[in-house]
Amino acid sequence: MNNWLRDSISEVINQRLNDDARTTSTTYLGWPRNRIFRDVIGGGQADFDTGVGHLTPDDRALLYAKYNQIRHLDELSHAFGRLLGQSEKIHRPTLIDIGCGPFTAGLSFAECFGAQGPFRYFGVDRAHSMLRLGYSLAQEAKGRDAMHPQTTLNFERNLGDLDFGYSRGEWTIVVASYLLASPTVDASELVREIVDALQRVGPGPVAVLYTNSAHEYADAKYPQFRDSFVEAGFTVEADEIEWFTDTSKEPKHVHYALLCRPAQTTIAVPGVLR
Ligand SMILES: C[S@@+](CC[C@H](N)C(=O)[O-])C[C@H]1O[C@@H](n2cnc3c(N)ncnc32)[C@H](O)[C@@H]1O
Repeated sequence: MNNWLRDSISEVINQRLNDDARTTSTTYLGWPRNRIFRDVIGGGQADFDTGVGHLTPDDRALLYAKYNQIRHLDELSHAFGRLLGQSEKIHRPTLIDIGCGPFTAGLSFAECFGAQGPFRYFGVDRAHSMLRLGYSLAQEAKGRDAMHPQTTLNFERNLGDLDFGYSRGEWTIVVASYLLASPTVDASELVREIVDALQRVGPGPVAVLYTNSAHEYADAKYPQFRDSFVEAGFTVEADEIEWFTDTSKEPKHVHYALLCRPAQTTIAVPGVLR
């Protein structure tokens, strides 16, 4: 993990938790540490805009970052490393991070892409608390020169509300990291919304990166997600379950998939362009 990333997490997550008057040697924010994963973050799929007990939505988002984010950062950095290593140099890509949580894929992408060139980041999350924490981490990372000065960062609650500006032909990478286990997600409807958003981005090539726990309950909606993309003209470039060890956390089985669509060519209207 890069120094700027470690320092950003230390400043925005660890220090806030450690400095909070409710934190003790056996609790974070007054909640027993051994019950946080289950009670507070619901394995990652809680409604982060409601409080629980004495904890506010912002407390819950912070504890999500403490308990789940490092592992996801490691997994995404590994996946982006492979993706960027294989492709020709990507110029000014657009990254759409759906169910972005606290800017997780944005941080990993910045770690792999570096400050070498600008990219556009669009984070979408239904929880205001996640968007607030994501924005804080993004500002912290920017302040540490982790991204090119022309990199732009946008956070929204709905994919349909994103404004992509003028139509562009550069690469778009869509990320769905640990999103599909959410009870609120309908996989076919989500793919329809993504394809509609891509239409608004422009005709450039697209890579959709899916990551999730390989547990059956977490991964159950993946076949519907994959098949809906295939129906929309995508091909499955990678689909594998990996025993992931490149992390300071416990190793575990991770499901990675990469679904791609080439640049859309202009359709000639017979008789007009001949
Ligand atoms: C397990 S977290 C994953 C966060 C981040 N992608 C990561 O890997 O750390 C799932 C996130 O998806 C968000 N979410 C759940 N259902 C959603 C939906 N229907 N639309 C947008 N975001 C959603 C939650 O608020 C939460 O932040």
